Amino acid sequence: MPNVQQCLNQLHTDFTFSAAQLTSLAELFLHDMKEGLQGRESSLAMLPSFLTKPTGQETGSFLALDFGGTNVRVMLVELNGYGSYTILARQDVPLSDQSKNYDFTSSTSTAAELFGFLADQLAQLTQPEKTYLLGHTFSFPCRQTGTNQAVLLHWTKEIHTSGVVGHNVVDLLDQALAARSLSNIHPVTITNDTVSALLAAAYQDCYADIGSICGTGHNTCYLEPKPAKFSHPMYINIESGNFDKIPGNKYDALLDSYSARPGAGKMEKMCAGRYIGELLRLVLLDVVTQNLLFNGSCPVFLQTEGTLSGWDVAVLQDAVAKPEQISLWLAKHGSPATVSLDDGKILQHSAGLIAKRSARLAAASYAAVLRHIDPALTSFHTISIDGSLYEKLPGYADTISQSLQELLGIKAEQIKCILTKDGSGIGAAIAAATTAKKTASLK
Ligand code: GLC
Repeated sequence: MPNVQQCLNQLHTDFTFSAAQLTSLAELFLHDMKEGLQGRESSLAMLPSFLTKPTGQETGSFLALDFGGTNVRVMLVELNGYGSYTILARQDVPLSDQSKNYDFTSSTSTAAELFGFLADQLAQLTQPEKTYLLGHTFSFPCRQTGTNQAVLLHWTKEIHTSGVVGHNVVDLLDQALAARSLSNIHPVTITNDTVSALLAAAYQDCYADIGSICGTGHNTCYLEPKPAKFSHPMYINIESGNFDKIPGNKYDALLDSYSARPGAGKMEKMCAGRYIGELLRLVLLDVVTQNLLFNGSCPVFLQTEGTLSGWDVAVLQDAVAKPEQISLWLAKHGSPATVSLDDGKILQHSAGLIAKRSARLAAASYAAVLRHIDPALTSFHTISIDGSLYEKLPGYADTISQSLQELLGIKAEQIKCILTKDGSGIGAAIAAATTAKKTASLK
């Protein structure tokens, strides 16, 4: 049996990528991007969005629907031009709520039920006598054939709702709106959340050319200067969560084995909020089994799949200097226990390693994108990032910036990473605005 120090060392080895390893992962990522762009076999889908940079002068009031997998958010956004906007109204509702007895993300829910629920949320924020142009952020991999045509390729983030995969999501929303006589709401664009996050930043910042989500899911998009078959620059949704060249450890393999899509979404399973809590649970369970945590007695919550989330990673990562925080954390999971100093070290160390690996992998993918769009790194770039991990996980944003500097050897001022809070909603409104002129002339 190993001792505590050996266990900590082993975890460090399991979850740490050296600078050299990250550099070669960035190269592999770049290779897969190029293959995907050429339409060759690749783990990166490189999906066209049919949208390009906004001018920053788009104006008007737009409705935004942001469907990400955990919550649905509806917003009414006023774009004022000159990169300024105001959120006039907003409403957030969870997609599953046990206390209210619904779960629109499970396989027993149908497309009509899910999109009906979305349409109901839109109805609540709108007035029947007014007309609205709607931008829809739909945060899943879609094959788009235009700014308002998107067929869902497959679900990610452990969503299972039936009857959506292979269907045009725009039609599903249209049908739900029609069934509720909401003919005053006109969906005009559909965008991935990474594209919306990038649009929201690009509305204000001409150097914003990469958008990313570090939240429940993980993904990145960028402005492709020369997309094949198109004459103008276009945002490309990389679907980077599916990057498959990262060597995993035994915990990654175990988690993958009982996930909804074994073998797929490898990077997402290492990076995203939907999975890092579960990874932490698997690590702690293993350490308890080795008799090195909680005196070898396993709390019930560690034995149950899905009990830990990104929030737990955040709390524990920050907890070593505050043992009372660990006791509160255990109590919250219904497991009062005395915590030793070694327990504290193991909990903090495990959470910290998992969070750091996630941030460093995200940085490696950004480095690859930067090398693709600006090989000699001569310009300024802004990476617009939205999502709970980037916003709330202690040290996450700093680790991304430091790793980027480590990987690219450039000054921090040249590559700016910014938090674009609510980017998915605001970007949806901007997307709708960029097509508003065309829509008006079609009517
Ligand atoms: C998942 C989805 C992707 C989305 C990301 C962030 O990776 O496949 O489309 O952008 O989550 O929400």
